[in-house]
Amino acid sequence: MTEAEQLQAVAAAFEARFGEAPETVVAAPGRVNLLGEHTDYNGGYVLPMALRDMGVAIAMGRGSAPGVIEAYSDTFHDAETRAITDGAERRWSDYVLGCLKAVVAEEVAETGVRLALITTLPMGAGLSSSAALEVASLRAANALFGKVLSPVETAIKARAVENDFVGMPCGIMDQFASSVGEPGKVLFLNTRTLDYTPAPSLPGHRFVIVHSGVSHQLTEDGYATRVAECHAACAALGVGMLSDLGPEDMDRIAALPAPLNRRARHIVTDNRCALDGLAALTAGDAAAFGRLMIESHASERDDYEITVAETDALVEAALALGALGARQTGGGFGGSIVALVPAEKVEDWSGAIAAGFPAARVLAVT
Ligand code: GLA
Repeated sequence: MTEAEQLQAVAAAFEARFGEAPETVVAAPGRVNLLGEHTDYNGGYVLPMALRDMGVAIAMGRGSAPGVIEAYSDTFHDAETRAITDGAERRWSDYVLGCLKAVVAEEVAETGVRLALITTLPMGAGLSSSAALEVASLRAANALFGKVLSPVETAIKARAVENDFVGMPCGIMDQFASSVGEPGKVLFLNTRTLDYTPAPSLPGHRFVIVHSGVSHQLTEDGYATRVAECHAACAALGVGMLSDLGPEDMDRIAALPAPLNRRARHIVTDNRCALDGLAALTAGDAAAFGRLMIESHASERDDYEITVAETDALVEAALALGALGARQTGGGFGGSIVALVPAEKVEDWSGAIAAGFPAARVLAVT
């Protein structure tokens, strides 16, 4: 479904559910990250791409009762009713509620809100379904009540909702890619300064996203444990952020107790991969970019320990079948891989992956 079709479909879903047309209809994309994983909450570099035609669309209107939020997911045929004064309850509507509270709490207390949403992003695929839901919620809330937030401010707010309301200690990459990124274009972001620049894509090559079939759950322990390990490594090394470190610090890093040494090494090497990745894109050097993806996956697997057997096997097969590079993308513990494939091989390559991995699914070619 194209984004235009999603907008139409979600408006129709709203009307079917609530018996009147929505007042505003918006969308926000998911993202795939190409290099620089878990570097964002360490002040490092990331290289995500907002996805074309894969995201969350929301239709919204004022509600029928003050303070009440009626949220309907047309994709999952699931309705949740919340009060604007509610706290988080580990439900999907937490993301919407947190965003409404962040920007239009007073307005919703007066008028209530209702909304329908559709998503074309599989949950737990590592493609930022949560960030897309947050950014779409903020866009809809702002449009409905005439508030103005810049794309960067929207990303900052969305991340704050996820950190402080939902309780997931993520960095800003996903919300930034969704809010600021142009779908189909790579974005290089310095998460410390929020300076960003678009990067060219690689002519004659495609990034292919394959869901392993193993869904991750980032609100479960693994992600928060990694964040805590990074803080512990910072304290032990006497630095404010792990991205303060560079290759010259490898001896000090190696002397840390395990697993902090491996965790810190991943941040330093993957940070450099993202930086070198920007240079490879700028030079149009697909082979170099592919090598960085391979290096990054090995670091995710051996140093950061966020891969699973299924994504490791997919990456190996991806390379054996002719990809120049492949790696697990996103928060990890399952989810998707992204592979760099020569354009003329994409069809055969995708067919071979599907044949070899019945649980896997090619989600997008960009
Ligand atoms: C999740 C988080 C991001 C980032 C990635 C890993 O997607 O939301 O902030 O940390 O994991 O790079």
